[in-house]
Amino acid sequence: MPEYCVTGGTGFIAAYLVKALLEKGHLVRTTVRDPEDVGKVGFLWELNGAKEKLKMFRADLMQEGSFDEAIQGVDGVFHTASPVLVPNDDNVQAKLATT
Ligand SMILES: NC(=O)c1ccc[n+]([C@@H]2O[C@H](COP(=O)([O-])OP(=O)(O)OC[C@H]3O[C@@H](n4cnc5c(N)ncnc54)[C@H](OP(=O)(O)O)[C@@H]3O)[C@@H](O)[C@H]2O)c1
Repeated sequence: MPEYCVTGGTGFIAAYLVKALLEKGHLVRTTVRDPEDVGKVGFLWELNGAKEKLKMFRADLMQEGSFDEAIQGVDGVFHTASPVLVPNDDNVQAKLATT
């Protein structure tokens, strides 16, 4: 049975991918930034087949090499993890007035 990695498993698209792949009986790896954060990742373990076929890895796009283990040897990668980089701006109103 093929094994796939879905990056950013807690995300909207990723969660549906993980669910669909598990339902098809595939082995699934997913990456999250904090596997111990039950409030964020707990729902993934509740998916049908997750306890038998899902593996969770810690990975952060801002840390080079942190995805290596999760993608090593899989048949395919669905890369949906996506950082939201919002520049700090403590004076939004002034900025709005000038644009
Ligand atoms: N949703 C749509 O309708 C849609 C349509 C077209 C394109 N897309 C694109 O598809 C991608 C995924 O969309 P989405 O809606 O599923 O996004 P999402 O729900 O915001 O999920 C993004 C995922 O990326 C993870 N992430 C954020 N920063 C990270 C980092 N530094 N390292 C590792 N993981 C990180 C988040 O993890 P945390 O939970 O830890 O924050 C989250 O799991 C995005 O590139 C989006 O632009 C989405």
